[in-house]
Amino acid sequence: MDFDFDEPVDRRGTHSLKWDKYRGRDIIPLWVADMDFRVAPPISTALHTHVDHGIFGYTVVPDELVDVVVERLADRYHWDIRPEWIVWLPGLVTGINVACRAVGDSGDAVLTTIPVYPPFLSAPVFSSRELITAPMVAQNDRWQFDFDLLERSITRHTRLLLLCSPHNPCGRVFTKDELAVLAEICERYDLVICSDEIHCELLLDADRHHCPTTALSPEVAQRTITLMAPSKTFNIPGLGCSYAVIPDTALRKHFTNAMRGIVPHVNALGYTAALAAYRDSTVWHRALLDYLRQNREMVERFIERTPGLSMHHVEATYLAWIDTRDAGFEDPATAFENAGVGLSDGKDFGSEGFVRLNFGCRRALLEEALERLRRALCF
Ligand SMILES: Cc1ncc(COP(=O)(O)O)c(C=O)c1O
Repeated sequence: MDFDFDEPVDRRGTHSLKWDKYRGRDIIPLWVADMDFRVAPPISTALHTHVDHGIFGYTVVPDELVDVVVERLADRYHWDIRPEWIVWLPGLVTGINVACRAVGDSGDAVLTTIPVYPPFLSAPVFSSRELITAPMVAQNDRWQFDFDLLERSITRHTRLLLLCSPHNPCGRVFTKDELAVLAEICERYDLVICSDEIHCELLLDADRHHCPTTALSPEVAQRTITLMAPSKTFNIPGLGCSYAVIPDTALRKHFTNAMRGIVPHVNALGYTAALAAYRDSTVWHRALLDYLRQNREMVERFIERTPGLSMHHVEATYLAWIDTRDAGFEDPATAFENAGVGLSDGKDFGSEGFVRLNFGCRRALLEEALERLRRALCF
């Protein structure tokens, strides 16, 4: 079946966070991580059926969704989980914040790498934890962990590592070896690992494979909270349905205790969409990845021939992490906004001089945005 990812879908006036930011201004929004594509037809159909039923009461997770998640993790990663290890969440950012509250005590420290998805930087602070950051390094043409620096950053108060894998915004799919070194450090210093794997089904390179951190060994699994969701892959972030997988009973109890009275139920339509996404939308998913791959080529080719800008190859996600430091902008995100393109400001990710570009949009719009970026650099 063919899907028309080139179809223009007007999102203006639909209360879209992405598009409303620039309401009434001629700025192409390529910032927050949602895509401009309509969902897979099975998701629309399932939602229509649900809406036609007309009742939206409190909803428990459908047994079939649990079965589908268990099977999916086994099929894709040879990761065998028990249904009771899953904790359903209305959002992954909720999971990051709950993890910070569930591990250690006020005043303890949380370690993460920068740049990183901004809630990794705010969640420890919101949770009365000290935030410790260790920069990633660009080596051999890709972003990598600096293991020595990471290890040196750990203090006697550090209890938790927040890991983003695959990495937003660096676009890396970490190898099993890289993750094993990281996990070994965490074991040595007795850190819990919270591994946000929301982008794990957006792998763009055929020779890359996602390895869930927890699947490294049974010992690593005992110290790991894995966060996953269908929302990025199937473009349903507005429907709020995510989950944590926590094999260790005591850790899971701490996590669910930290949720008590604060974290609401997953909404009924979120479960419906998640089930249709995972169970029925494989063909759409494959077509999406093909389309995103071509958009990625377009962005990478553009950056290659544009003096002042550089980036590393995007192995996963629909996000390009662009280094503008040679372009001489004082404030690159504003300069690009003034040229008609809304990008995410690297400052919010812990790295000044960078911008993040979301290429999950129709190709003609991306082309226009890149042309505007080129013009911004000519001034
Ligand atoms: C790494 C990462 N985690 C979490 C989220 C957001 O999750 P949610 O919308 O379910 O809170 C995003 C969204 O871009 C993300 O990139």
